[in-house]
Amino acid sequence: MTKYSRGIPRIGGKKALLPVLLPILEYTAKQKKLNLFIDGCTGGMKVVANIDVTLFSEGLIANDLEPGIANLAKVFGDSTQVKRLYVKIENLLKDIDSNKVNALDFFNEANKFIKKDAKKRKDNLPTSPDKFLSAFLTFFITYSHTYSNANCFYQHALKKNLFDYKAHEKCLSYVDTFRKITVRNESFLDLIDEYGCREDILFYIDPPYVLEAMTSGEQYLFGLEDKLQQEMVDKLTSQNFKARVFISGWENKIYKKLERGGFNKYYVANTHVATANSSGKIGRKEAEMLWSNVMVPTRLLPDASELRAALAKNEEDIRNQNEVDLASYEDEILRANTAKARAGERLAKAEARIATKFANQSVASSELLKETLIAMNSKAVLEKEVGIAIKQEVGAAILDIVKYNQAIAKLELEKEKKLKISNSDANLMKLRQENRLKGKK
Ligand SMILES: C[S@@+](CC[C@H](N)C(=O)[O-])C[C@H]1O[C@@H](n2cnc3c(N)ncnc32)[C@H](O)[C@@H]1O
Repeated sequence: MTKYSRGIPRIGGKKALLPVLLPILEYTAKQKKLNLFIDGCTGGMKVVANIDVTLFSEGLIANDLEPGIANLAKVFGDSTQVKRLYVKIENLLKDIDSNKVNALDFFNEANKFIKKDAKKRKDNLPTSPDKFLSAFLTFFITYSHTYSNANCFYQHALKKNLFDYKAHEKCLSYVDTFRKITVRNESFLDLIDEYGCREDILFYIDPPYVLEAMTSGEQYLFGLEDKLQQEMVDKLTSQNFKARVFISGWENKIYKKLERGGFNKYYVANTHVATANSSGKIGRKEAEMLWSNVMVPTRLLPDASELRAALAKNEEDIRNQNEVDLASYEDEILRANTAKARAGERLAKAEARIATKFANQSVASSELLKETLIAMNSKAVLEKEVGIAIKQEVGAAILDIVKYNQAIAKLELEKEKKLKISNSDANLMKLRQENRLKGKK
């Protein structure tokens, strides 16, 4: 298994399938003398990074429409970039450990960036010029999401994978392999158009599962609309398509057209459905199929009847487990209902207490209201009385002032008269005195 360790963990990744898949692909390459291998939806890069590169004179192409994956694959091919990635991850982990950075917030922001960039790629708009950042965030998300959903942060995964696991050392050991891989960031449909006419090419296409077969549409950043799956089937069954191709997937109606168009269908494994086993209980398994326009010798294929039997047993186990689950759910529902009834009683009592308190309170408050009204009323009366009193006093004072003014004026007049009289008396006396003096002379 260590032989096939290169690549990153990815939902829908084909690591478990590699022991069957790689011998089939390598056999085909040797038999048909193929020159170029194209991994059309490379995702976790498991297939392209573990296939024998020496078989293909023109090398390997790893393609994915998600820019983060393509950028990460490029980083993996350059030891300086891998070291830079490692330093950045290590610094981030230190910041998370010292609570400088909140891991969940960082995860959500990273996911937002990756999704926005992916959407731009899908809409044929320019993606982020910061390729290294895109690779770094993709790497971080890859090692910190739940097993089944790239959108859900899983603290345990982060601890296990990045803190303890020393993923960077593994990545450094990939450099030699990735250096030889040409990375593309296109839709695999465009690569089919570009290379499909060449007989010496081997395509491996592992598209997101057809929607009908998926348990959750939210698993990939890029799900694949049925219309694109149909487009793929049409291209692969057209006269112009000459290359050798293997397509991974689960049974579905759309791929039936491949079979009608002469493709073989091989049963290669029973794989876990990503969303089913996170609870630690028996997870659903699904038959993983390969469709190909190449004949594969039976010796390279696992025993289909054994696989079918194992799948049937898995279904039986799940049914049994479901029955056990159902019984325990019923118990839990019963317990919850009893607890709910008890809570209901408590609620009714509390409501009654509140109602009594409220009634008392409202009597008290209505009395208070009454007193307030009376007080307001008497205040108004008082204000009126005070007003009247003030008005009367002011009136009387004004009248008094007028009266005094008149008296003052009269007195002033008399004073003036008196002054005139006394002035004329003084003049008379002065005159008499002067005459007396003249007479003496
Ligand atoms: C099932 S995963 C591939 C897993 C991969 N074989 C591995 O072993 O890790 C599907 C991949 O297809 C990519 N994808 C979706 N639509 C695509 C498209 N139109 N062209 C190329 N890649 C696409 C997704 O981004 C995702 O990484």
